[in-house]
Amino acid sequence: MAEPSQRSQHSLTTADAEPDERAVEAALRPRSLDEVVGQQRVREQLALVLDAARLRERAPDHVLLSGPPGLGKTTLAMIIASELGSPLRLTSGPALTHAGDLAAILSGLNEGDVLFIDEIHRMSRAAEEMLYLAMEDFRVDVVIGKGPGATAIPLEIPPFTMVGATTRAGLLPGPLRDRFGFTGHLEFYEPHELDRIVHRSAGLLGVPVSGDGAAEIASRSRGTPRIANRLLRRVRDFAQVRADGVVSLEVAQAALELYEVDEIGLDRLDRGVLDVLCRRFGGGPVGLSTLAVAVGEERETVEEVAEPFLVRQGFLARTPRGRIATPAAWAHLGLRVPQGAPVAEVPLFEE
Ligand SMILES: Nc1ncnc2c1ncn2[C@@H]1O[C@H](COP(=O)(O)OP(=O)(O)OP(=O)(O)O)[C@@H](O)[C@H]1O
Ligand SMILES: [Mg+2]
Repeated sequence: MAEPSQRSQHSLTTADAEPDERAVEAALRPRSLDEVVGQQRVREQLALVLDAARLRERAPDHVLLSGPPGLGKTTLAMIIASELGSPLRLTSGPALTHAGDLAAILSGLNEGDVLFIDEIHRMSRAAEEMLYLAMEDFRVDVVIGKGPGATAIPLEIPPFTMVGATTRAGLLPGPLRDRFGFTGHLEFYEPHELDRIVHRSAGLLGVPVSGDGAAEIASRSRGTPRIANRLLRRVRDFAQVRADGVVSLEVAQAALELYEVDEIGLDRLDRGVLDVLCRRFGGGPVGLSTLAVAVGEERETVEEVAEPFLVRQGFLARTPRGRIATPAAWAHLGLRVPQGAPVAEVPLFEE
C-alpha cells in the first residue's frame, strides 16, 4: 500500500499505471472489439480497417493510437493482433535507443505480424529513420562498418502491420505520422460508459456491486477506465474488510472518502491546489512556483499531476499572468466568488 508521503506520485487518481498494476490490468482487458466499451468511433473505424484487410487478404495499414494514459491504447493494440489472428510483437520507444535495436526486431518479423511500439514518440532519431523505410517499403538498410568504408545492405522484411501508441501525438514528427494509414484518437469516457466498465470488471473480479455503487465509482473516475478499475479494487478492499463485501452506494462513498477522492474525482492534491488558489490568493493570478510552495509540492507535480485535470474540468486557467480560479472552482469549494476576483479570458490558452 502507498505510504502517505508517496501519495503525490502514486495517487489513486493518476491516469498512469502503477508499477504493480500491469498484471491486474491484463486480467481486465477486453479481448475483442465487441468487448470494448465506448470509443464508438474508433471501434467502428478500426473494424472497417480490419475487415477490409481481411477481404483483400493483406496486412492492414499501419495504425496509430493516440490519447491520454489509461484510455485503452495498449488494449486496442492487443485486440488488433488477436482479431487478425496474428502474433503481437511488443516493444516501446524508450527501448529503441539504437537503430540496431529496431533492426533486430524488424528482421525477426514474419508476414502479417503486428508490431506494437508503445510510447512511439520517445524513440531515438536513428530508429525513427529506419522505421520510415520499414513502414513504407518493408525494407531496412543494415549498415555494416563505420565511417567512409561503411556499406548499407538492404534487407527485405515481410509485410507487417505496425501499431504505434502515443500520449503525445503532437511530438511525433510529420513524416512518421504520415506513414500511418489510420489514426485513432481515444477520448475520455462518459460516466455511463465507465459505469459499464465497472460492472464488467466487478464481474470478472467476482465482486458483487450494486447499480448505484458502480455509478458512484464511475463518476469519480475522471473519464478514465484505468482509474475506474483502480477505484473499484480499493472499494472492494473496504467492502470486504469493513462491510459485507458488497460494493453498495454507501460503501463506495465511505471508501472513497477514506481514500480522499471526492465526488468528481479530485484527490487531496487537486483540492489543495484549488483551496490555496481561492482561499489564500483570492483566486489568483498566482505563479506556478508560489502555488507549488503553498501546497508543499514540487512545481512539476503541480503542473503535470494536478493541473491537467483541473484545467479539463474548467476549474483553473493558466494565463500569462499566472493561475486563475474559475467560478466553477469557487463553487466546488462551496465558496462565493468574491468581488474583484480575477476573470479568466475565454478562450483559455496554455502557457
Ligand atoms: N474500452 C474499454 N473497455 C473496458 N476496459 C478498458 C477499456 N479501455 C481500457 N480499459 C481498461 O483500462 C486499463 C488501461 O487500459 P490500457 O492499458 O489499454 O491504457 P493505455 O491507453 O495503453 O494507457 P498508457 O498510456 O498508460 O499505456 C486496462 O486494464 C483495461 O482493462
Ligand atoms: Mg499502454
